[in-house]
Amino acid sequence: MTPAPSSARAPSPDDVRRILAGVSDPELHVSIVELGMVDDVRVGDDGTVLVRVALTTAGCPLRTQIKTDVESKVRGLPGVTDVQVEYGEMTAEQKTKAMERARWNARESAEPTEVPASARVLAVASGKGGVGKSTVTVNLAVALAARGLTVGVLDADIWGFSVPRMLGVEGRLGGAEGKIDPNTRPVPNRLDADGPAGLLKVVSMGFLVDDEQSALMWRGLILTRAVEQFLHDVRWGELDYLLIDMPPGTGDIQMGLARMLPQTELLVVTTPALAAQKVAARVADMAHRSFLKVMGVVENMSAFVTPDGQSYALFGEGGGQTLAAEVGAPLVAQVPLEPAVAAGGDAGDPVTLRAPDGPASLAFEALADRVATELLPPVEMSSCTARIFELASRAGS
Ligand SMILES: Nc1ncnc2c1ncn2[C@@H]1O[C@H](COP(=O)(O)OP(=O)(O)OP(=O)(O)O)[C@@H](O)[C@H]1O
Ligand SMILES: [Mg+2]
Repeated sequence: MTPAPSSARAPSPDDVRRILAGVSDPELHVSIVELGMVDDVRVGDDGTVLVRVALTTAGCPLRTQIKTDVESKVRGLPGVTDVQVEYGEMTAEQKTKAMERARWNARESAEPTEVPASARVLAVASGKGGVGKSTVTVNLAVALAARGLTVGVLDADIWGFSVPRMLGVEGRLGGAEGKIDPNTRPVPNRLDADGPAGLLKVVSMGFLVDDEQSALMWRGLILTRAVEQFLHDVRWGELDYLLIDMPPGTGDIQMGLARMLPQTELLVVTTPALAAQKVAARVADMAHRSFLKVMGVVENMSAFVTPDGQSYALFGEGGGQTLAAEVGAPLVAQVPLEPAVAAGGDAGDPVTLRAPDGPASLAFEALADRVATELLPPVEMSSCTARIFELASRAGS
């Protein structure tokens, strides 16, 4: 399950800078590129990348987080074989500029969405329908929330929304005539699972429409701006993660997302069938073109294993591994076919809650564990802001 070496050509320093635009300073909530923190980028012919990051204060405890984010983003670029991060410290003048930039952003509310900049955003995508995007979104969301985290779930599949049914959540978002009320809040859903109480905050087209007729009207009216509205007008509040269930295929919604939330990483879902993996590769392609990082590949509907250990690869074998190698991202989970998964989805009782010890649930748990501890850990806020502000004002801003 390690990323395969990529055979692509080394990226240019500009490519690296563009992908680094998706790394935010965890406290200032502004891209490190915009803040002038990316001092130097060097790319060797062999695909090794060196990034020099100028920190606001040399001893800032958040530097490890910035380093991890930089490494992880840059590693997602095709052709990168190794990433090294060096630290420097900003000059007084650079600090003043950075703080002006951060203040300007806050003042002009240049932050284009209501999604907090500290939220980790993960979009679950695939090239074709029915491979299990919604199932993966919902169960990963539950597994993360069960760790005590606050997880937003955005059902961006406005044509085929299924998240409310799968989670068993009903609710209403404010809005009429194709426009969402700017003060509307996501529908909260507290888990009654054992362990720390997690919270899901759910937004779906299903909370706007009453019947087929109004569904058609809403879709017609907000089609092109649906995701923008969901991100812009819904008051998400505090979030550790935002998981987005994408519609099948590649298109405007992906592009819009890349523009509005450049920190988004993609989780590409495929079935083990080799044909499905070819379609999913298109999603990865488009991710690279819009400078979104592919965090990993999930193979869903992997071999069905009977209680006595017999394995039946009903949907073929190898699709996940092949796709992972092709896009240079790790294969992060193999979720087996299990009747409880479909039954849980139909009953609004996700398998991770209904049958937590079953093989599919264990796969989702392990995935949540990897996401939260290694692949995309929640942003841990600590306090250097006060010090930075103080320094910047002393420097005369
Ligand atoms: N691992 C699994 N084992 C058994 N059934 C599964 C599994 N994963 C998904 N399913 C079932 O397969 C069907 C399709 O899954 P899902 O709706 O999650 O796919 P999707 O990619 O979101 O589809 P769409 O493109 O229509 O949005 C559902 O009925 C779901 O319950
Ligand atoms: Mg779906």
